[in-house]
Amino acid sequence: MMNQVFGLSLSTELNSPVINKQNQAPAKILIVDDRPYSRMPARDLLLLDGYEVLEADGSSSVFESIINNKPDLVLLDVVLSEIDGFEICKLLKQDHRTSQIPIILAAVADTREYRRKVREVDGDDFLTKPFDHFQLSTRVKSLIDQKRLKEGVEQVLVDIAKVMESRSSDSGSSSTKVASLARYFGEYLQMSPKAIENLVFAANVHDIGEVAIPDAILLKKGELTSQERELIHQHVLIGEKLCQPLGNRQGVLPIIRHHHERWDGSGYPDGLAGNEIPQLAQIFQILDIYTALTSERPHKKAYTPTQALEIIAEETNKGWRNPQVVEQFTAFIRAAEDKKQLQESIQILNKN
Ligand SMILES: [Fe+2]
Repeated sequence: MMNQVFGLSLSTELNSPVINKQNQAPAKILIVDDRPYSRMPARDLLLLDGYEVLEADGSSSVFESIINNKPDLVLLDVVLSEIDGFEICKLLKQDHRTSQIPIILAAVADTREYRRKVREVDGDDFLTKPFDHFQLSTRVKSLIDQKRLKEGVEQVLVDIAKVMESRSSDSGSSSTKVASLARYFGEYLQMSPKAIENLVFAANVHDIGEVAIPDAILLKKGELTSQERELIHQHVLIGEKLCQPLGNRQGVLPIIRHHHERWDGSGYPDGLAGNEIPQLAQIFQILDIYTALTSERPHKKAYTPTQALEIIAEETNKGWRNPQVVEQFTAFIRAAEDKKQLQESIQILNKN
């Protein structure tokens, strides 16, 4: 069984300046190792550096501990009795709640096989035991600094995109709806966790490039001139550029750039056709359109799911959407609607 997770922090005034700038608490590191005596050296070194240290053994409850405690970094032994350390790393990197946490894998032996496996499971680093204090300090600090920087950049981009969304519509929740639809539809299609994460993150930032479009054009009620239309089309290129610093979320960039392409090549910015359009962008645009159609806006009422699917089907007949993705999406929405109706019927029956 996993030990009770506990925090052991030393005064950060006397020790290292490893401070979480948002809440002034020291960065939190979880050491996962079956043997308490084996965790002790790493724990003492990290405490000396001023971190808060949590400990766990490698039982299956380690996942729950990580989700609940949200460590800034995990130091994970590869040889564990219940689950292989590499397997734990792989699962953590595939879960959207833990995928951004840096993981250092550790072992007594330094073999080529271990290093290959670290890459295979998306581990961030590999260290041999016993730990060298300088090496451990340097690697841990570097990974935590990178994580904080990435989180800061992502937060700024998401905040800008939210402001943009509230500027162009009275409903500020559209990105949240697209994100939740992306997660369910991605799981329905059995897409990889990474691909689902890219769709979800794209929901937040795909139109961030609109920040560069003047209100007079973006919010114009009448027909746009060709020059104004051209300017609006630039939002995908500007958005792609703004999101370039998104380190390990590079998979979001093709979605941002290509979410207005059309299956027949009549879209923008590159006029790509068919499967030249990145697959995630093909899927994303259907989620985005469906959400827009089923949401109420100042100038329109919300369409019902059936009406929205009919409009998407019309667009598909015109050649704008990938028929196969639309077919899968239609089946997905119909199944969700059937389930909703069934639940409503059960509730009515229970009341009577
Ligand atoms: Fe867009």
